[in-house]
Amino acid sequence: MGGAMFEEELSLYDPALLLSLDFCRSPANFNPRISATVPGETWLKVRPLQTGDFHRGFLQILSQLTAVGDVSLTQFLNRFAQMRASGDYYVTVIVDTRYETIIGSATLVLERKFIHGCATRGRLEDVVVDDTYRGKQLGKLIVVTVSLLAEQLGCYKMSLDCKDKLIPFYKSIGYTLEPGNANTMNIRYGSTTRSLNRNIASSKTSNMDSS
Ligand SMILES: CC(C)(COP(=O)(O)OP(=O)(O)OC[C@H]1O[C@@H](n2cnc3c(N)ncnc32)[C@H](O)[C@@H]1OP(=O)(O)O)[C@@H](O)C(=O)NCCC(=O)NCCS
Repeated sequence: MGGAMFEEELSLYDPALLLSLDFCRSPANFNPRISATVPGETWLKVRPLQTGDFHRGFLQILSQLTAVGDVSLTQFLNRFAQMRASGDYYVTVIVDTRYETIIGSATLVLERKFIHGCATRGRLEDVVVDDTYRGKQLGKLIVVTVSLLAEQLGCYKMSLDCKDKLIPFYKSIGYTLEPGNANTMNIRYGSTTRSLNRNIASSKTSNMDSS
């Protein structure tokens, strides 16, 4: 790897945002103490997702979380460009620089609102650590990193959905189940509904174009 292939890599967001996170603000207990800038080993690096991470196993690591599907380089780069242009996606990764491999990831999504004086809520998504690196505080590290980032970016709160068995993990990082407000509900759409929705969306766009 290396050489010309990664010369023109883009970062999803400004890496400097990770330099000033104050890990003392997190209720998480790190033993030994680590942070996004000092992750405990010289070969570990915490940084924003980059375009070249397609070749560093980013999608493979997400497949340890859920089904990723057969995503081509073009699809990856198009989605990356959309996220980057929106400015609301903070996909953050841990790299093992010895092998130039992605070994952990978590995403902060900014949800823009009108309520609370046009406030912004953070959503924690797609948390995963490669199974051969688990149990070494890296899950805590990546979640605390994006949680502190959410605060730094002005979010009034950060929310997540998780499996019951992970409640202790997130509680140890400061997340709480709020009484009367700790339910996740979903409606899942099949492929027919999805294509119907796409048609409605595209006809709305063409109506807007013609108006
Ligand atoms: C959840 C996950 C990210 C944790 O990563 P990790 O690097 O092993 O976590 P850490 O080493 O930082 O563990 C932090 C703490 O959480 C606890 N913990 C970690 N995984 C846990 C689990 N699956 N269930 C319960 N507790 C867990 C650890 O014991 C540790 O406790 P301690 O601080 O008291 O020692 C990892 O197991 C993973 O990628 N799982 C598969 C994907 C997934 O389920 N993601 C979450 C979606 S919501």
